[in-house]
Formats: sequence, structure tokens, C-alpha cells
Amino acid sequence: MRKEFLDLGRQPIANKFLKEDEYEGEFFYDLKVIFDEDTKLVSLKDFVKPELMFNEDYAYNTSMSYPMVKHFELTANMLKEEFNPKTVLEIGSNDGPFIKNFDTETSICVEPCENFAKKTTDMGYRSYISFWDTDVSHGIKEIHGEMDLVYAANCICHIQNLDECFAAVNNILSEDGVFVFEDPSLLRMLERGSYDQIYDEHAHIFSVTALNNILINNGLTIFRVDNLSVHGGSNRIYVARNRPVEFSVAENKQREYDFGINNFQTYEIFAERVRKSKKDLVELLTKLKGEGKRVVSIGATSKSTTVFNYCDIGESLIECITDTTPDKQGLLAPGSHIPVVDRESVNLNDYDYAFLGAWNFKDVIANKEREFVENGGKFITHVPEVMVFS
Ligand code: TMP
Repeated sequence: MRKEFLDLGRQPIANKFLKEDEYEGEFFYDLKVIFDEDTKLVSLKDFVKPELMFNEDYAYNTSMSYPMVKHFELTANMLKEEFNPKTVLEIGSNDGPFIKNFDTETSICVEPCENFAKKTTDMGYRSYISFWDTDVSHGIKEIHGEMDLVYAANCICHIQNLDECFAAVNNILSEDGVFVFEDPSLLRMLERGSYDQIYDEHAHIFSVTALNNILINNGLTIFRVDNLSVHGGSNRIYVARNRPVEFSVAENKQREYDFGINNFQTYEIFAERVRKSKKDLVELLTKLKGEGKRVVSIGATSKSTTVFNYCDIGESLIECITDTTPDKQGLLAPGSHIPVVDRESVNLNDYDYAFLGAWNFKDVIANKEREFVENGGKFITHVPEVMVFS
């Protein structure tokens, strides 16, 4: 049985940055979250049509995020060393920061956003412009054979029909092949109160417990889990048909159990915390505005789309958002219509406070923006609770 526990209000497409003339037809949907008592999976109540989110306008270039590029290089090297795959398939290959560490002859990309598929094609990889499903899996297997490593980062949680997704993986995985994927962790989200992990693209927020339940039904088993710090706390899940299950799987499931992820009441408590976070953030920003303080935001993230729209924060409370991604600059943030500008075009010292839209890069940003703090600037974050720090 599916039970709703959180309503984050009307929300736009989280990564759809707008030109001024695009205000009119902006798409909004109801962002509500449910818990499935049977599988223990947390999902959006109503999914957004994938084509509205993942298309040639998709503005998230992983390669623009230096820490993520480094992360994928280390991940690729680790997987090569441990599993020595002869064939590699990446689902949701974005602009190639993971796959570029593998041989062009034996590696395949599947990516629905044409702009990114073109980039990996230019890098020499066979790139299929497609969503991941059983048809594509059969088609690729026919042409390229089975895959020893199937990898996906921040992508499987985007896929609405998980049974179809895992059946498609099972179809193409070689006998001893491994399927490795990483996505934000439900436990970390609940612990941290980081409700902004919830947005249109994240059709599900995964626990190891729920994944285990769903994968087993599809003939696959989790044999290892790595806890990662990226994206505010992610899990890397290692899946195969028949490998010995390592201790990390039971350990993670136990931690989830101890936190109460199997109980609906845990989600009701989380929802209460989210409502308090909204109240605290709006009160703080309104007070600062009353005192004539100027506030900027750093990182035009999908996460900040959720926060600004749920909290009804617009340009009157946060003047602009800086972001290092050229494709986002000069546009307006979804729903809130706060202008997104190049970090280089802004003198941060003109502002009193900087909200961390990219709170997951808090240390990187605090380190880069030391001068802002030395000049009296302060940061605002809402994770794990609304606070000011410098
Ligand atoms: P993410 O949290 O979804 O990875 O997105 C991070 C966004 O923040 C991305 O658009 C790049 C941007 N960013 C900055 O503007 N400044 C920074 O120092 C870092 C690390 C990221």
C-alpha cells in the first residue's frame, strides 16, 4: 500500500532554466511523496513525463563540477582494478566524465539527452540516444553482446519503472558481470533533513532495503554497498546474479532498520521537520530583508528549485544565484525566476549573506569564498537545519 507523507507544493521542472519569454507556458506539477508499505520504496506520488525533464535542453553538465569529475575518475579506476571488465555500458552517461576512463572500442553509452550523447559520440564512444528500457537493452546486446560492467550514476533513481529497468540490466549483464549504480541515500536524507533531494527527476529516493526487495524480484542480488559523501550522501550499490554477499549489505540494512525506515511514522516525523525548515528559512530571509541585508545564493541546483518553490522564495528575498555552469547563466531559475549569473560577474563582497543552494559542496565553496567571509560575509544553509555560519 502506498501512503503519502509529504507535500512540497507546486513545482516546476527542476533543471529547466528559463529565458524571460518562457515564463508564460512554464510547466508546474504537484510534488508529493509516498512510502510503499510493501517494498519500503519512497517515490514521488505522480511522476513527471521523462521527455519534459531529459531532453536536448538538459542543463546539468557533470563535467562542469570538478569534484564530480574527480569522483568518477576514482570510481572508474577502482572498478577497472577490481572487476577488470572487457565490456562496459553506462546508463545516463551525461557528458562522459565516467566513460572517458574506459576504452572507446569496448564501451557503450546510453543517454536520452541528445546534447550529451553528441559529446560522448565526439569523444569516440558508441552513444545511443535513448531512455533505458528492455527494447534498448535487447538491441544493444544484439549488436555489441553482453556487458561485464553496467554502470549508472545518479540515473537509476530517475527511472520510474524499476522492474523494467532491472529486467533490462539482467538481460545484458554477462554471467559474472556486475551492475554498479550510485544514487542519493534515503537514510542520509532523513538524517539530514535534506528534503531538497526530492524533485521531479528523483522518481525514487533509494534505501538499500527497498532496492534489495525490488532487485531480488528481478533475479539480481546486492552484494556490496559503499557509503559515499557525494550529492549530500549517496550509496554505491553493487549488484550481480551470484556473488557472495558481503557484510556491508547487512550493515546498511541494519542501520536503516534502526533509524526506522520501515515505519511510516518515521516519514511523518520527517515531514514535520520539513515544514519547520520552511518556516525557519522564510523567517530568517524576511528578517534579513527587513534589516536591509543583501542575499545571494551559490549553486543553481535542482535542489534549490525545490527549496525556493516550496518556501515561495523569489527575487525579493534572494537577489540572484551564481553558478559555474555556462548553460545556466543568463537564465532565470525555474519557478522562482531568480536570475542566474556567472560567479565571475558578481562581487560577493556586495552581499551580506550567501545561501548555499549547493550545500553538498559546502567545504569546496567555503574554501573558494574565503575573501567573502574575511569581509564579514556569512553563509546560510538549511541542512541539517536553518542556520547562519561563517
Ligand atoms: P549539484 O549539487 O546538483 O551537483 O549541482 C551543483 C551546481 O552548483 C552546479 O550547477 C555547479 C554549481 N557549482 C557552483 O556554482 N560553484 C561551485 O563551487 C560548485 C562546486 C558547484
